[in-house]
Amino acid sequence: MSNIKSLFRRKSITKLQTEAAAEGEHTLKRTLGSGSLLALGVGAIIGAGIFVRTASAAGNHAGPGVIWSYVIAGIGCAFAGLCYVEFAAMIPIAGSAYTYSYATMGELVAWFIGWDLILEYALGAATVAIAWSEYLNKLCEAFFGFTIPYALCHSPFQVSPVTGVHGLINLPAIFILAVLSLVLIRGTKESANINSFIVIVKVAIVLAFIGLGWKFINPINHAVIVPPNEGGDIFGWSGVFRGAGIVFFAYVGFDAVSTAAQEAKDPQKGMPIGILGSLAFCTVLYILFSYVLTGIANYRDFSNIGPGHEAAVAYAVSTYMPGYAWFSNLITLAILAGFSSVILVMLLGQSRVFFSMANDGLLPKVFSEVHPKFRTPAKASALLFLFVAVFAAFIPGDIVGDMTSIGTLFAFVLVSVGIIILRRTDPNISRPFRTPFVPLVPLLGVAVCVFMIYHLGWENWARLFGWLVIGFIVYFSYSIKRSKLR
Ligand code: ALA
Repeated sequence: MSNIKSLFRRKSITKLQTEAAAEGEHTLKRTLGSGSLLALGVGAIIGAGIFVRTASAAGNHAGPGVIWSYVIAGIGCAFAGLCYVEFAAMIPIAGSAYTYSYATMGELVAWFIGWDLILEYALGAATVAIAWSEYLNKLCEAFFGFTIPYALCHSPFQVSPVTGVHGLINLPAIFILAVLSLVLIRGTKESANINSFIVIVKVAIVLAFIGLGWKFINPINHAVIVPPNEGGDIFGWSGVFRGAGIVFFAYVGFDAVSTAAQEAKDPQKGMPIGILGSLAFCTVLYILFSYVLTGIANYRDFSNIGPGHEAAVAYAVSTYMPGYAWFSNLITLAILAGFSSVILVMLLGQSRVFFSMANDGLLPKVFSEVHPKFRTPAKASALLFLFVAVFAAFIPGDIVGDMTSIGTLFAFVLVSVGIIILRRTDPNISRPFRTPFVPLVPLLGVAVCVFMIYHLGWENWARLFGWLVIGFIVYFSYSIKRSKLR
């Protein structure tokens, strides 16, 4: 009985706060101000989701109703975001949802959430690295007139619809992961600076697309926002809901800000600005972007331009915006840069989650070693690179993408539940930020996220389940015996 009880042993908030306040050469360095945190959020959010998945959701499920899909997914994220901020300001320590659940729901749940976050961050990084590889090819074609051989930039599970050639390995995806891992090893501040620069470029391009595209909106394309249902989740409101599950990927990443809480100069102030600011900013941008994209081109166009929809934005510009061909190449370039910052922040987030789990003894110690000079978890970043590279090299992008979404949604559910629990178990602890209307806001967060999980379909539930079963085995064969709390 006591064994079962110990599975739910909780780490005390006071202990966590002491850990957060520790300084020294074995700790991470507090270098990030509110501006860098905000940029970190935007850096992680705007990426493959908006540029690739908007067209895919519109063409196959929601039509112009993808605008509503963005609203629904954004609302779910806002509820979860409010819960994240309460935790991140209260426990400003690396590890995010993993750490919060250790304090609220005990070790076993914390383990599962940490394990689940691998889906969000590591597989998220792999997904965007795969999209990066696609865009690199487009850029090579546009600027230099050659493409990388199909076999060297696709997974073995993919076959070219044109030539019938099989994929072998995705080398460009491995390349970008290696470069960004090196940047992360070099320093958090340096990484944040590179990220901030990229963010300016990609936000400028999204704004330019909205601004320039606005006058090319054809009102006929918006005559019916939610097209009639054609069966299943193809159009109609069920299509809009399915679309919300798909475009949810575009919001993944705002919570990555919380993984850097231990490196924030003033987390009480920086966390709310970083998390909620980046989320609010991107939500507005996404709604406008999807409005313009589905206004310029008809959603039916997007049913036909290939399963990846990588070229959707460039296609819309070159087909429906006469005189702006130059802009379409610029977009591809900016997207490529934009993807890099998403990968950077995802890798950052993952290494910080591993760092915390190893500090608690649940993962090997090597993940929590801080580089004496750079003060980053350098070995964790290097090992993480190997792990993510395997997924990026050999698994198709849409599979890892949906796994990222379902893993993230699951984390959001647990964080929202955690807020309700902690308000009961530790009502008096100092909370620099309080989620409003508890338990209503967390419960609504749970409801919207579960709803989106439901609409991701049984294959993804099965993948999540399978991943959690592997986690269960690892926990009971390794981590449980080495947990420091024990
Ligand atoms: N939100 C990130 C993207 O869309 C993961 O690429």
